[in-house]
This record gives sequence, C-alpha cells and structure tokens, in this order.
Amino acid sequence: MIPLKRALSSPVGRKFVMSISGIALVLFVIVHLLGNLTLYVPDGGETFNRYAAGFDAIGPALYVIELGLLAVIVIHIGWGITTALKNRKARPDDYAVSVNSKGGPSNLSLASKNMIVTGVALGIFLVVHIWHFRIRKIYVADNTEIDGQQHADLYALVHTAFSDPFWVAFYVGAMVFFGFHLRHGFWSTLQSLGAMKPEWSKGIYALGFLVAVVLTVGFMGIPLYIYFLA
Ligand code: HEM
Repeated sequence: MIPLKRALSSPVGRKFVMSISGIALVLFVIVHLLGNLTLYVPDGGETFNRYAAGFDAIGPALYVIELGLLAVIVIHIGWGITTALKNRKARPDDYAVSVNSKGGPSNLSLASKNMIVTGVALGIFLVVHIWHFRIRKIYVADNTEIDGQQHADLYALVHTAFSDPFWVAFYVGAMVFFGFHLRHGFWSTLQSLGAMKPEWSKGIYALGFLVAVVLTVGFMGIPLYIYFLA
C-alpha cells in the first residue's frame, strides 16, 4: 500500500477525509440554497432562471466543476461507508446501547450511529435529485428565452415537480435526514479537526444545531411554499 493511501485509510486519516469533504459539501449546499432562495421571488421565474442561466455562461469548465463536485460526493460516501463497516468489524458489540455519564442512553453515540442511516438516505436523495433536476429525466424542461438566448426553464421544472404531493413529501422527508446528518457532521468535523476545546463543546453543539435547522428549513420551505402558496 502506498503511504498516502495508508495515511488516508488510518482512523485519523479517515476522519480528516470525511471532515474536509464534508466541509466542501456544506459550502456547496450553502451556495446552492442561496441560489435556490430566488425561487421565492414572485416574478414568474425571471430571477431564478437568470441565476440558473448564469451557470451556462461558464461553458465547458462547468463540466469540470461538476466532475469535481461528483468526486467529492463519491469520496465522502465511499469513505463514510467503508469507515462504518470497518468500525463495525472492529467492534462487534456496536449494537449494544452506549450510556452517557448519567447512565442513560448516549445521544451522541446514537447520533453518530445514525450517520450511516441518514447518509445512505441522503445518497439516495442525491441520485434521485440529480436525475430529477440536473439530468432532467423525470420531467422534461422546456426552454425559455433570456437576453435573446435559449436556456432551460428550470423555474417551470421545479414548479411542475412541486405541484405533485409525492415530490413535496419526498423532498420534505429527505430534508429531515439532511438536518440530522448535518447536525452531527458539524459537531464531529470540528472535533476531528481538533478545533474543539472541551469547554466549547456545548456552544459548538448548539451552533451545529442552528446551522442544520437554518439549512434544513431553507430547503424544506421551497417545496412547501411552491405547493401551498405559489
Ligand atoms: C428543495 C430543495 C432543492 C431544490 C429546489 C434544488 C434545485 C436544484 C436544481 C434546479 C438543480 C439543477 C441546477 C442546474 O442544472 O443548473 C440542482 C442541482 C443539484 N442539487 Fe439541488 N436543490 C435542492 C436541494 C438540494 C440539496 C439539499 C442538495 C444536497 C444535499 C442538493 C444538491 C444538488 C447537486 C449536487 C446538484 C447538481 C449540481 C450540478 O451538477 O451543477 N440539492 N438542484
């Protein structure tokens, strides 16, 4: 085994890879949410479609960026699954309920065990989501004209999808998993990177909760707003 591969496969290396790829994905998700907030602008899609069309201006380099994003997603999922399987092999008693300092069930260990469940659910969501809105194989996107050029009418596509209660329920449900995954991931990333002193742990836990709630509610609001109000 080459040294880099060995380092990245060690317990510390694994946490490092998960943390760095997790941070990159959270940054993407924040930018994605900020862009998607233009879906709330009541102008028939003008603002959102202009924002989405801006990516077309990047040209072929967009494919390179998308491939990079895909690589980070694959690394995060791949490392996450193999780490969980290794841990389970190393500690077959993992199924036993861990206890906290007061002798009750440990919320933290429960949350970390749930990472694999919420992570797999998110992975399934992502495949469906990309198929839905990026590859556009579930609903076909018509074109719209922006400054004399033809672009996909993604506003209409998103509205068509979220006029169907099935897709509203699917996205709202997926965002619950997303919120739990993010809350524990945030905490665990700061701990893995050594950025957490014991006296900070309560504050960091609260901050992770806040970040997860803001992002979850921001995304979850979109299908609900379109279905019930738009
Ligand atoms: C209601 C919530 C969401 C809406 C309305 C939405 C909307 C969209 C749209 C319209 C696209 C296609 C963009 C384009 O082709 O230019 C897209 C792509 C994408 N979305 Fe979302 N999204 C949502 C939530 C999420 C979440 C929570 C994640 C991650 C956890 C996510 C990850 C992605 C990824 C990875 C792509 C592909 C990016 C690319 O290849 O350019 N999305 N989304």
